[in-house]
Parts: sequence; structure tokens; C-alpha cells
Amino acid sequence: MLESINRILQEAEEWKLKNSDDLEKYRLKFLSKKGALNELFEEFKTVSKEKKREFGQELNKLKNSLDSKYQELQSEVVEEKGEANKFDLFLPAVGNDLGALHPLTLVKRRITEIFARMGFSSEDGPEIETDRYNFTALNFPENHPAREMQDTFFVSKGKQQSDDVLLRTHTSNVQVRLMENNKPPIRSIMIGRVYRNEAISARAHCQFHQAEGLYIDKNVSFLDLKNTLLHFAKEMFGKDTKIRLRPSYFPFTEPSAEIDISCFICKGEGCNICKKTGWVEIGGSGMVDPNVLESANIDPEEYTGFAFGMGIERIAMLKYDINDIRLFFDNDVRFLNQFQGA
Ligand code: PHE
Repeated sequence: MLESINRILQEAEEWKLKNSDDLEKYRLKFLSKKGALNELFEEFKTVSKEKKREFGQELNKLKNSLDSKYQELQSEVVEEKGEANKFDLFLPAVGNDLGALHPLTLVKRRITEIFARMGFSSEDGPEIETDRYNFTALNFPENHPAREMQDTFFVSKGKQQSDDVLLRTHTSNVQVRLMENNKPPIRSIMIGRVYRNEAISARAHCQFHQAEGLYIDKNVSFLDLKNTLLHFAKEMFGKDTKIRLRPSYFPFTEPSAEIDISCFICKGEGCNICKKTGWVEIGGSGMVDPNVLESANIDPEEYTGFAFGMGIERIAMLKYDINDIRLFFDNDVRFLNQFQGA
């Protein structure tokens, strides 16, 4: 019996906790009803009278050792849990780290919404395009400077100029595709990315976004164009916003006009964005040239239409007072986080 006592004592002493389950295992093995200690006490009943005193003392020592070791192990577990529980329950909760929509997404959605309420559907077209849709069908003369290398990123040369593949330089390519595939009335807004071979600076980038508008029906007039743009500007920048149309030239519109809006930032007081003129250019527009209608098989005697193309970065820069176009493409979270909830 002494042998068993010593063996159990040793085993208990060497008991180490790898995890908190080991504490319960210890209890079951040594201290529970069916544990080693009780077994010995059962055996003790059968021990002869002469040996009872000696064995009894040893057995009590064992019981004390096992108990105090159990307490030791218990406090180890408590300590460990304490480590993990060192929370200050009075600290304010850490909020969920919500992302924010990109400012260009916000502006694109707003543009879509404003024009949807005027009955414009949303359309889409390819960014990799042939010369035909980007230039030829839009009435660009053969040697128009916009076709030249400094503006256009060419992808590959075709058999003839109109087969050249390029990155679209504007969203007007979608106009042509729409006119080819639909009968008037057509009333659509086309938003997308465009590319131009330009040096990157605070005001220019080789990639940016445009919102193209096209309305073709019977009796569409320049007044419709102006009122549509005015309504858009008021919805986008506030009801006091004014617009100004300046004569301009595009091969695919006649007459053509540059669209200015009254400076939203300085409200006419004069700031860097409007270069102290009180007006900011946001795009081009005009009445669809009869040649363009014809090349898409729409009879210019029966139908007229207007078109416009606006720079989305420019609109976002005005709306959110952003002074560098490169910020839109850097994806710096310090910039992007500022649009949370916008
Ligand atoms: N596509 C022209 C541009 O990128 C803008 C425009 C669109 C002008 C439609 C007139 C009509 O500058």
C-alpha cells in the first residue's frame, strides 16, 4: 500500500496543466468518488489493525498533498483566465469599421438618379473601341487632331483607319451604338471611363470618367438641351446654380457649346477652382449633327436631338471641394474615409 501512496503522490506532483480541461482530469483521477484516493481508502478498510495507524497517517498526508495541489492548479487556471479577461468594461464600444463609397461612385449614382427622373435610361458601352465608333461615325474628319497620337491610346492598327482599335477618348462612342441599335425616341445617359494620352497633373489625368447624354426625338430643340442641363445643375449643386453655354466646336454637334456652371465653391466671389471668373467648365454639348444621325440611319429631316458629355471628376471636385484629380485614383484611405455617410 505504501508503494501505491508514493506512486500516486509522485504522479500528482508532476501533474501539469496544458489547458483548463487538465484541471478537471486531475480531479477525476485523484479526488473524485472513483478516484485514486478513494480507492486507497477502500483498501484501507481491509488493512490489519497493527498497520492501520501507519497507513492512516500516510493516507492523510496523501489526501492533504492532493488537495493542496488541486488548489494550486485551480489558481493557475483562474490566473490565466484573469489575463484574458483584462477588459475594461467601461470603455466605449469599438464601432464596426464601415467602408465608404468612392466619391466618383457617389457622383455617378447621383447623376444617374437625376437623369432617371427626367426619363433617361442608363446605357453602357465598350472602353476598348474601334476608330469607327470613337471617331468616324461621329463625323471626325480624316485628319482631325484628336485622332493623333498625343490624345489617343491606340491598341492596334486596322486595315483602314476606321478599323484601328483604341481606348475610347470619350463616352460619345456609346451614342453611336445606341442610335444604331434603337429607333427614336432615344433618351439615355451613358456613364463610363475614358482615356487620353495626357501628362498627369493635379488637373489632368490619362484616365477619367464622363457622363454622356443623348436625347433624340421629333422637335428636340436647343432650349430642351439648355433646360435639361440647368435642371441637372440645380439638382446636383443646389437650386441657386446657374449655367452658361459658350459657343464651341465638336465634329458631331452643330451648334456646339461648352457647359459652364456658376462656381459652387466661391459662389462667384472668385477662387482657384474657377480661376476667379465665377464659372467652371464641366463639359461639352450641342445639337446632334445631321451627318451623325445619317450614319446611324436616323432621318435628320424627321428627327433632331441633343447630346452632352460631362467630366465626372470635375463635378466631384466641385461638389466635394477636392483640389487634385490624382486623389481619385490613389485609393488612400485617409481620403476615401472622408466620404463615409456622404
Ligand atoms: N465628347 C466630347 C468630349 O469628350 C463632349 C461632348 C459630348 C460634346 C456630346 C458634345 C456632345 O469632349
